[in-house]
Amino acid sequence: MIVHQMLTGGDRNFAYLVADESTRTAVVIDPSYTPEEVVHAARQNELTIARAFCTHDHHDHTNGNAGFERMTGVRPLLFGDTDPETDRRVEDEAEFPLGHLTVRVIHTPGHTPDSICIHIEDAVFTGDTLFVGKVGGTDLGDGAKTEYESLHQKLLPLPGSTRVFPGHDVGVTPESTIRHERETNPFLLCRDYESFVDLKRNWAAYKKEHGIA
Ligand SMILES: [Fe+2]
Repeated sequence: MIVHQMLTGGDRNFAYLVADESTRTAVVIDPSYTPEEVVHAARQNELTIARAFCTHDHHDHTNGNAGFERMTGVRPLLFGDTDPETDRRVEDEAEFPLGHLTVRVIHTPGHTPDSICIHIEDAVFTGDTLFVGKVGGTDLGDGAKTEYESLHQKLLPLPGSTRVFPGHDVGVTPESTIRHERETNPFLLCRDYESFVDLKRNWAAYKKEHGIA
């Protein structure tokens, strides 16, 4: 599997170009600010873009969609959309072919109700649900509760070696693994929901105290 991680602008937003090496078929995740660079990278690497997804409907992840569709004829799919080629809906556990590989959708509501993570082989593209050393912003009520459940029920059970590719470059490294996040991410080390939401409430002070940027 080929993974190109590309900084697109915005708030250090990442786009991803992921391909099955043998068939040169590619999927794009969150093309956002610079869709032309993603399309250019696909051409340079002789990859054919078959499908695209947005991890959620926030402007900094979707603002390149119209341009991307103009260039490729591929409309990025969001949660609830139907893929015109396979007629399959983008929903929890939905699977889409990527050459010899399979793209699996994991619905991870919390940051937004429509947040999804894209699981392909040994990699998961986590949008604004999970960052390196951080988690997605939410309110301190239902949003936080739903995000906590998504993280613990949907993402953390993945194999520890699963590579984590977040939607923003806001950590100490641009990528991580499920194991590393389980062992080091302060939000995932919280022993229960109450301490998770407490950490969100006190995040500014915690960051200052621990020298986190
Ligand atoms: Fe977002």
